[in-house]
Amino acid sequence: MDRRPEKMNLTTFMLPAGYHKDSWRLEGSRVEELGFLDFVADMTLLAEEAKLDAVFFGDIVTADTLLRGDVKMNGLYEPISVLSALAARTSRIGLIGTVSTTFSEPYNLARQILGVDHMSGGRAGWNIVTSSRGNQNFGLPEMPDPVDRYRRAQEYLEVVTKLWDSWERDAVIADRATGRWADASKLHRIDHQGEFFTVQGPLNMRPSVQGRPILVQAGSSGPGIDLGSSFADCIYTAQPDLARAQEYYREYKEIVASKGRNPAQVKILPGLVPIIGDTHAEAEELAELLASQIDMDYGRIQLEADHKLDLTGLELDDRVPAERFPEKLATSRSKIFMRKALEERMTIRELIVESARGTGHGWFIGTASEVAEHMITWFNGAACDGFNINAPHMPGGMETMCRKLVPELQERGYFREDYEGTTLREHLGLDQPASVLERV
Ligand SMILES: Cc1cc2nc3c(=O)[nH]c(=O)nc-3n(C[C@H](O)[C@H](O)[C@H](O)COP(=O)(O)O)c2cc1C
Repeated sequence: MDRRPEKMNLTTFMLPAGYHKDSWRLEGSRVEELGFLDFVADMTLLAEEAKLDAVFFGDIVTADTLLRGDVKMNGLYEPISVLSALAARTSRIGLIGTVSTTFSEPYNLARQILGVDHMSGGRAGWNIVTSSRGNQNFGLPEMPDPVDRYRRAQEYLEVVTKLWDSWERDAVIADRATGRWADASKLHRIDHQGEFFTVQGPLNMRPSVQGRPILVQAGSSGPGIDLGSSFADCIYTAQPDLARAQEYYREYKEIVASKGRNPAQVKILPGLVPIIGDTHAEAEELAELLASQIDMDYGRIQLEADHKLDLTGLELDDRVPAERFPEKLATSRSKIFMRKALEERMTIRELIVESARGTGHGWFIGTASEVAEHMITWFNGAACDGFNINAPHMPGGMETMCRKLVPELQERGYFREDYEGTTLREHLGLDQPASVLERV
């Protein structure tokens, strides 16, 4: 295994309604401002003050806009527009947004992400998803099969990266004497012809100041890992269990190496939901308070729908019998969640709380110091290169993470005191992509 990095990478999952389901019902949540800029800019500036690598916006374009009563992930913030606005309000923090390869075209996407990259001075990242729902909005009678979605995504990535590399680094010469702004011999057509896309290129934009925008990927199924290990700079993953996270980390890095890439250049960042109090008892109280906000009726509906569980005839405090668990699950995250549910023999109520808290991600209840120690154990135990930390409630959870948890990590030497570079690539400690280096 490669040398361990000294410092963690930290990004934050920006869910302005709060990551814990129904936490927006808490007093002081600013929920009235959901969808508007000032609120999310305040949260992003907090993350920047804490020197986090990046804020990350997920996106789901489902036809069920209210997501069965759970608004937190409903796409109120369209990633490209909100990242563009945040580029103007911030100066250092990375800006990562989700766009689906199933519902978009690579030429447009290449321009949009590179546009955010330029507008932010090299701070953009793209979270590549293939989407598991939303076909009703794009004229598709049903969702394409996951294998087909990932096949399209592989080709999509080939096109986007070729477009981003279609200008040589020194193509812009801005030569007033000759009247040539760019050297045309340094712009290259890509002439891509494949199963899904035909794209001539070159792109109509100059190259990224960070080489290329950062690529993030989150699928943990076989095809998801194949895509991520081929292209991604960062991997998001739901890993609630240390031993399994270590196994995932080791195996993932091996796959990256088997593709001729440097494993140290692919950062694996599991999600973590820290529920923090000034004392351990206060953290427990906060967890209870958050759980008490959950709408149990919707929670039950979501459990049944998200994990294909039939709960008919069962009371909230009944344990779910093993035979009710479906054999075939839609996503790797569902598998992780269901495995935990089975192992811990949870009741329906406990399952709803578990899902509301972490949606399959790890969570930790404790003081800022205890959470920091937990993170360091994972980091030193080769389970991750850092974390994507999810504020359980907003704005309070984000303030605690940035002003209490991050300083604990800094004091222990596990997180930077200040930004050392200006681009997201530099924050993540990543080299220029090989394709770019070859051209320099
Ligand atoms: C931290 C994290 C963030 C994700 N964000 C999104 C998202 O914004 N939109 C989306 O459609 N899927 C998102 N996903 C889901 C993944 O892209 C992927 O579809 C999911 O993990 C199922 O694929 P798999 O079976 O390959 O794991 C996210 C997953 C993780 C772990």
